[in-house]
Amino acid sequence: MSRRRAKTRPHRQSKEPQAARKRRSPPWSVIGVLLAIGVIANVVVWSRPAAGPAADYPEYTVELVARGEQAFLANCAVCHGPDGSGDAAAGVPALNGSMHAWHHPDSQIAGLIRRGGIQMPAVGPDWSDEDITAVLAYVKQWWSPEQRTFQAEVSRANP
Ligand code: HEC
Repeated sequence: MSRRRAKTRPHRQSKEPQAARKRRSPPWSVIGVLLAIGVIANVVVWSRPAAGPAADYPEYTVELVARGEQAFLANCAVCHGPDGSGDAAAGVPALNGSMHAWHHPDSQIAGLIRRGGIQMPAVGPDWSDEDITAVLAYVKQWWSPEQRTFQAEVSRANP
């Protein structure tokens, strides 16, 4: 092995300038193919109807969201923060889109509010469905359309 390499080395060295010249002149056929792929990819992307899954989640009235804001500030903000960013040091999760509040179905969050969780107290044991929906309407404003669509699907699957 080593002897063969030793023999071929001078030969390879003598070929190097030619190889360098070869490298400098671009392979036009390859560039042509790449350009064609680029053009086709652009046409495909731009002619698609709408990118991504369609937003599909319940919309709430401004009044309901405003009512939810009142309820949130009065009952939840003390722990979860007025902007829903939570309190990492105290072990209180963020309710905005930065953590995983949006993975829970409405029914589970309603249970947390009415019956409490591990550390979270039952802040609304006698809250009506509408009270719960209002506070959820406010919290969901912090979620992206994709997060809301995901959470709406989870909620439909877990009534
Ligand atoms: C006394 C502090 C406190 C209050 C008040 C409170 N929470 Fe919580 N909440 C927590 C803690 C701590 C957790 C973590 C899970 C647990 O302890 O069950 C939590 C968890 C949650 C979760 C689940 C989040 C996740 O990512 O899993 C939601 C949703 C939630 N709270 C909503 C609310 C809403 C809405 C209110 C007001 C109606 C509220 N909380 C009031 C402390 C609180």
